[in-house]
Amino acid sequence: MVPYGFDPPSGDPMSHQPAETRTHVTLPQLHTWHHAGRKLVMVTAYDAATARIADAAGVDIILVGDSVGNVCLGFDNTLPVSMAMMNHHLEAVARTRPTALLVADMPYLSFHLSVEDTLRNAGGFLQRGAQAVKLEGGAKRLPMIHALIDAEIPVMGHLGLTPQSVNPMGGFKVQGKHKADALQLLEDAQRLQDAGCFGMVLEGIPADLAARVTETVSIPTIGIGAGPHCSGQVLVFHDVLGLLPGTSPKFVRRYAEGFQDLRAALAAWAEDVRGGGFPDGRESYTLPEGLRSALSQWHP
Ligand code: KIV
Repeated sequence: MVPYGFDPPSGDPMSHQPAETRTHVTLPQLHTWHHAGRKLVMVTAYDAATARIADAAGVDIILVGDSVGNVCLGFDNTLPVSMAMMNHHLEAVARTRPTALLVADMPYLSFHLSVEDTLRNAGGFLQRGAQAVKLEGGAKRLPMIHALIDAEIPVMGHLGLTPQSVNPMGGFKVQGKHKADALQLLEDAQRLQDAGCFGMVLEGIPADLAARVTETVSIPTIGIGAGPHCSGQVLVFHDVLGLLPGTSPKFVRRYAEGFQDLRAALAAWAEDVRGGGFPDGRESYTLPEGLRSALSQWHP
């Protein structure tokens, strides 16, 4: 097993290695791909099952997102997600040893209280197998970002519609539509780059603004609801695969109808159980011949 982060960037930067044969994705590898113009692919995963599927699909980055709160834990937003919850889900993902770069999301209040607390939380993520952390916010988060990078903890920024700011934003609304906000976002992107972030998520902003950020910074921008001109794209696992009931937000494209297909499969199994069609000989074990007749002669 090659330890995380030790594979030198190699080979044709544009070639996509099959997931079974590729080496671990590292930050230098990611930058080589980015500078060669290859679009980066990131998806969330929250447990061993979703991580294995994401890694087998050959994505470049797996994000253990705090969206685990809405997607898996039934919360209305990400604010109740704690470090204990994130650690629990990160550990499950990390146990699968994904070849994708593993990034863990700093939940609300895990990087707001003090530098010491921020370092302990983020360092704990790295000790659990993450290779980098992501945190929401612009210039006001710089003291924490500086301290993290100083402690050898790679940081991915996150600008635009930052879900932990749902209350000040007044809901999950597209950001950067007004001149002052758009200019502030451009400024924040520059500051994150200058602080040493290795990349940044741009969420829920107009495509033109994301394009302008992407051409003014040299680090990769990973878009979600930010149009096609970012350096890469990220979506929530359950959104891409249609695993959640109801309609998807505008920025999601579903590549499967997971909820409908899995519901139909489970309903078919339930019908077989009720009708006596499951299990049959294919799913059952048999006794050796001699033991079968011995059992039939036994009476209480
Ligand atoms: O928590 C999350 O899933 C995220 C992505 C949507 C970028 O932050």
